[in-house]
Amino acid sequence: MSELADRYPNLHVSRHPLVAHKLAYLRNRTTDPKLFRELVRELTWLIGYEAMADVETTQITVETPLEPMTGARVEPKVGLIPVLRAGLGMVDAMLELMPSAEVWHIGLYRDERTLKPVEYYNKLPDAATVQVCLILDPMLATGGSSAATVDILKTWGAARIKQVSLIAAPEGVATLSGAHPDVDIHVGAVDRALNERGYIVPGLGDAGDRQFGTFAGPSSEPGHESGETAEVVRRLQRNISVGE
Ligand code: PRP
Ligand code: URA
Repeated sequence: MSELADRYPNLHVSRHPLVAHKLAYLRNRTTDPKLFRELVRELTWLIGYEAMADVETTQITVETPLEPMTGARVEPKVGLIPVLRAGLGMVDAMLELMPSAEVWHIGLYRDERTLKPVEYYNKLPDAATVQVCLILDPMLATGGSSAATVDILKTWGAARIKQVSLIAAPEGVATLSGAHPDVDIHVGAVDRALNERGYIVPGLGDAGDRQFGTFAGPSSEPGHESGETAEVVRRLQRNISVGE
């Protein structure tokens, strides 16, 4: 884990005991969707707070009931970019922290066979309206979805981009950092690896299904791995072991 942190200075893994405590409940297979959603919200609050630690502030004058003083105001305009669907559960927590943030949704799903992201929703206006973008997505697995989201945001003109996730795989950190080393990655934990189906292990399963109670689809059932999927995962695993 520290090897990964040494290699990727843009990776920030929370050390907060509350994050570790809440992640353990989130991962538990018996946690139902209601509790799962509450935990996603609380964890986003904690990790998102850490992700905002280095944004610039400007000095402002504040009149307290006793005297004037110099206070601070967050300078850049902030955009929240939830990746549909699973990122939706992270929006309210960030809006509680930053009520004036803009929310721009990006719709991506992972093709189950190739593990490549497929874009299905993007209503960004022509030019960037914010200076700092926080990509909200609970899972950074292969890194394909987040790298594609960063591509979209850079084309849009976003000056500074941060990824906020609850759990990452080493493969996803390597892919995103390789493609976009300027993007800070803030996560609650980096897990062991991806499995043959491209799921993070030990992970928590499917973050979208667990939030929204949609367990009936084929993506939730074991045994759907294809040779192509497993090959994608093997390639990613080879990439992160190079030079280690
Ligand atoms: C999940 C997750 C990420 C993506 C991560 O979404 O929320 O967006 O997978 O995987 P990657 O790093 O390998 O690209 P999913 O495709 O399951 O869609 P959903 O949110 O609609 O369930
Ligand atoms: N998406 C999820 O929801 N979970 C994983 O483990 C990987 C991708």
